[in-house]
Amino acid sequence: MLIVIKKNYEEMSLEAARVVSETVREKPSSVLGLATGSSPLGVYKELIRMHKEEGLDFSKVTTFNLDEYIGLAPSHPQSYHYFMQESLFKYINVDERFIHIPSGMADVNDVNRIHRYCGWYEEQISKGGGMDLQLLGIGANGHIGFNEPGSSLGARTRIKTLTQQTREDNARFFNNDMNKVPKYAITMGVGTIMESRIVLLIASGRQKAEAVKKTVEGPITAMVPASIVQMHRKAILIVDEEAGSLLGLQHEQIVTDLE
Ligand code: GLP
Repeated sequence: MLIVIKKNYEEMSLEAARVVSETVREKPSSVLGLATGSSPLGVYKELIRMHKEEGLDFSKVTTFNLDEYIGLAPSHPQSYHYFMQESLFKYINVDERFIHIPSGMADVNDVNRIHRYCGWYEEQISKGGGMDLQLLGIGANGHIGFNEPGSSLGARTRIKTLTQQTREDNARFFNNDMNKVPKYAITMGVGTIMESRIVLLIASGRQKAEAVKKTVEGPITAMVPASIVQMHRKAILIVDEEAGSLLGLQHEQIVTDLE
């Protein structure tokens, strides 16, 4: 695992955007796995700048988002569909036919249908040749996508119940009204994520430091789903100083860019 420690959120974002843009420049028909949350916003901002000022071309890129809340229509301002449109897609030249985000309109009681839908999502990823790069944020409890602690490390796209901590962490996006925070989500599995050729995990802020330490220093456990990236052949972790503040400096492939 390559660990890069940057001074702050902005530097972290620029570095991560550089890795994404290199992937797209090397292979214009790249398949990108995308993430939501506050962590990737700076990366998207920089990719938009690269598109506008440097002509970074997304016209042949295919995208697959990690997850979506169940119960939110694409037009809901807190849906990940809406987030992706507003934070990235509407500012770049990605072809909307190549955009994939799990549907949030599933009926939680119709388990068979959800199961079939998740199978279809996985098939689309395979048909696209698998992901070249998966961008990931991390939850304070070590979750990736919505793979909460205890998730099977081999799991594929499926429905998950959100933990109380994740719902509380995300309540700020729902006027701090817990009744409005969805209880379920569809998420790519840890197994799906691990098949991406590059896994690029970003984390910023002191509240992520514990999760980052457990991710990097192990043990690998389903209780910290992100810890599985230790097994990935090309995992890149870009964190800011605060998120990396609990890391020991004994790691071989650590690059710091701090003054
Ligand atoms: C949600 C998303 C994750 C994201 C996490 C952290 O749970 N499903 O993909 O990594 O939030 O979000 P943030 O980056 O806002 O801290």
